Amino acid sequence: MDGEVKQGQEPAVHHQAVMVRETLDYLACGPGQVVVDATVGSGGHAAAILERIRPGGRLIGIDRDSEAIERAMARFAGEPVSLINENHGQLEVILDELGLAAVDGVLIDCGASLEQLTTERRGFSFRMDGPLDMRMDRRQETTAADLVNELPGSELARILKEYGGERRAHSIARAITAARQQQPITTTAQLAATITAAIPPRARPRRLHAATKSFMALRIVVNDELGALRKALDAAIHRTKPGGRIVALTYQSLEGGETKGAFRRASVDSTCLPFPSNEGPRVRVLTKKVAKPSAEECKRNPRARSATLRAAERL
Ligand SMILES: C[S@@+](CC[C@H](N)C(=O)[O-])C[C@H]1O[C@@H](n2cnc3c(N)ncnc32)[C@H](O)[C@@H]1O
Repeated sequence: MDGEVKQGQEPAVHHQAVMVRETLDYLACGPGQVVVDATVGSGGHAAAILERIRPGGRLIGIDRDSEAIERAMARFAGEPVSLINENHGQLEVILDELGLAAVDGVLIDCGASLEQLTTERRGFSFRMDGPLDMRMDRRQETTAADLVNELPGSELARILKEYGGERRAHSIARAITAARQQQPITTTAQLAATITAAIPPRARPRRLHAATKSFMALRIVVNDELGALRKALDAAIHRTKPGGRIVALTYQSLEGGETKGAFRRASVDSTCLPFPSNEGPRVRVLTKKVAKPSAEECKRNPRARSATLRAAERL
């Protein structure tokens, strides 16, 4: 991030792209190529890729957040960049509409951006008060408040445990269902306070905010992040040219597991759905051992610490 983290109504910070050198090394893109950045965000990776594919190359930048697309439009005005405000789960359809049968590389940089996390009105953060929203794409109907106020307690507990790894999921779900009987939970501060109060002070995590895991779980479910990632990876494998590369940066184990699973399925079993083929393995996994950011990068950008890079080459 650039300088101090300021929190507020508008993004006061800029997302700092993670593992840029390693991403470029694994993408191995060159002049004239067509590369998809399926999570364009503020365009840090996209700008670096663009430098590599000049002259003659074209970058397809996708983001489901219209604010990210607006920022990228300003940044890449006049450049050979097509920006698409869509869910990358629709990658097949997006490429069809652009008339691109195959591309030379695809990057997926998972999770939320710093701009999303530090803008109150987007409702992603337990550290500041805003509407309990968490939608990356605000054309979508369901918000975090809908889940928190409408799901049965047992379903809430399952979500907190499965997607957040929250050990106190049942206590938190009980506290939420009790609180919402008094009044609907409509703000991030209300939810953060309810979760914190559900965990006895001595059982609260020392380094994390007590609501960290629950907020992450809700964000993953509101945005169906794992479902979209699965579809995007399958489509990327299907639509990347032989010799082309697919790179995924993940920040928690569920995202990492999806990526590992998709690459493994494509490297050993080409008959698997949704794109059955009898051609034998479709990718070679390039990161038998996953790549991690350098100590220097983690110091400069603490958000990079949890990053894991996986890459595969299309056969
Ligand atoms: C970690 S940020 C990407 C940062 C970017 N690589 C950069 O250098 O600025 C993740 C971005 O992906 C977007 N995103 C997350 N899931 C998505 C999906 N299913 N489809 C499209 N964009 C998505 C988010 O809106 C966010 O802007």
